[in-house]
Amino acid sequence: MAHTSGPSADLHYQNGFGNIFSSEAKAGALPVARNSPQRAPLGLYTELLSGSAFTAPRKHNLRTWMYRIRPSAAHGKFSRAQHPTWLTGPFSAAQTPSNRLRWNPWPMPAEADFVQGMFTVAGNGQAEAQNGVAAHIYCANRPMQNRYFANADGELLIVPQSGQLLIHTELGRLQLAPGEIAVIPRGIRIRVELPDGQARGYVCENYGAPFSLPELGPIGSNGLANARDFLAPVAAYEQRDDRVTLVNKYLGVFWEGEQTGSPLDVVAWHGNLTPYKYDLANFMAIGTVSFDHPDPSINTVLTSTTDTPGVANCDFVIFPPRWLVAEDTFRPPWFHRNIMSELMGLVKGVYDAKAEGFVPGGVSLHNSMLPHGPDAATFEKASAAPLSPHKLEDTLAFMFESRHVFQPTPQALGAANLQPDYDEVWSGFKAHFRG
Ligand SMILES: [Fe+2]
Repeated sequence: MAHTSGPSADLHYQNGFGNIFSSEAKAGALPVARNSPQRAPLGLYTELLSGSAFTAPRKHNLRTWMYRIRPSAAHGKFSRAQHPTWLTGPFSAAQTPSNRLRWNPWPMPAEADFVQGMFTVAGNGQAEAQNGVAAHIYCANRPMQNRYFANADGELLIVPQSGQLLIHTELGRLQLAPGEIAVIPRGIRIRVELPDGQARGYVCENYGAPFSLPELGPIGSNGLANARDFLAPVAAYEQRDDRVTLVNKYLGVFWEGEQTGSPLDVVAWHGNLTPYKYDLANFMAIGTVSFDHPDPSINTVLTSTTDTPGVANCDFVIFPPRWLVAEDTFRPPWFHRNIMSELMGLVKGVYDAKAEGFVPGGVSLHNSMLPHGPDAATFEKASAAPLSPHKLEDTLAFMFESRHVFQPTPQALGAANLQPDYDEVWSGFKAHFRG
């Protein structure tokens, strides 16, 4: 039995990825050896949340049993609500340029909570087809207190860039700081508080297969993101009897309804479908100790697989602090064109492929088959740099990499913070060869 916590207890977590956890915030709330006894303990209601088809193979089967104060079905009729800046596929509203694109950080809005402050930069696929992803920026300065949110369209991979988040979920609480990530499964209800008053970051909304740890192949049984460093919450319920608002995102449309009591009223639960968090500082980066670059896939933290082996709906890839020791090697990322599409963000520091212009809170987009790589200044510097061991410090860049082209939204293409001349980064390369 996991340790327990009540609503006012300190934050606790359970270690592991994909484990079948169990947790109770009140002693005796969790049934023993029965999932759905005739009467659940302590007058609670039994409810099952499935994150996979019932018949999915055990390895992919995700479900959690909840024992709660009121069933989640006890909400009123939803009405249409508006969210002008959180967009959902299909992402065909604007023509996708064959330009490389880059944005400066987004400004903080006048007033918005974590959900209201979501701005969709680009996306692909469709929620209804359960494939593709959307990339969002959140800028929030208002806590969610009487408003709760559930997203039926996909899971949310949250990458804070500034400011902490305290995410209250049905299964307990996650406190998240820049440098950490969290994943909220599809359908899990949340409300988000802002311990620092405001917060900004990135979200990958994943319509496809839930994120999982990548296979390690010849790396062996350890390395990259180790399963034991992932943290699931422990049960922590909210008891209230007033009316609250629940916002539901469903096939891209926002719906709003009221209910009595908190949607986060789960007193005990067990299962392997849980929100979780992970400190990216625990990522065991692997690189060459001889020459050349491994492909950036060596830095995959989480992957959303497709039916085609090795071809991801989305890989979440990071570029953390690490030693560079390669001999006779151009050490920054080389020029390349890939079939996969890359949307990058920067949590802190400087990314080693660019001298300037890509700043924390910004986004760059290098879509399928669009050539990119170091700018001229970085090329000149790295071509002449002494190749002694060198540590990249105080940096954290990441990439949402997808098999599907990221189609920018009209609002992102029209945003004041879109850099008008990003392609100029690759000007100034001299032809040294003369045949
Ligand atoms: Fe790239």
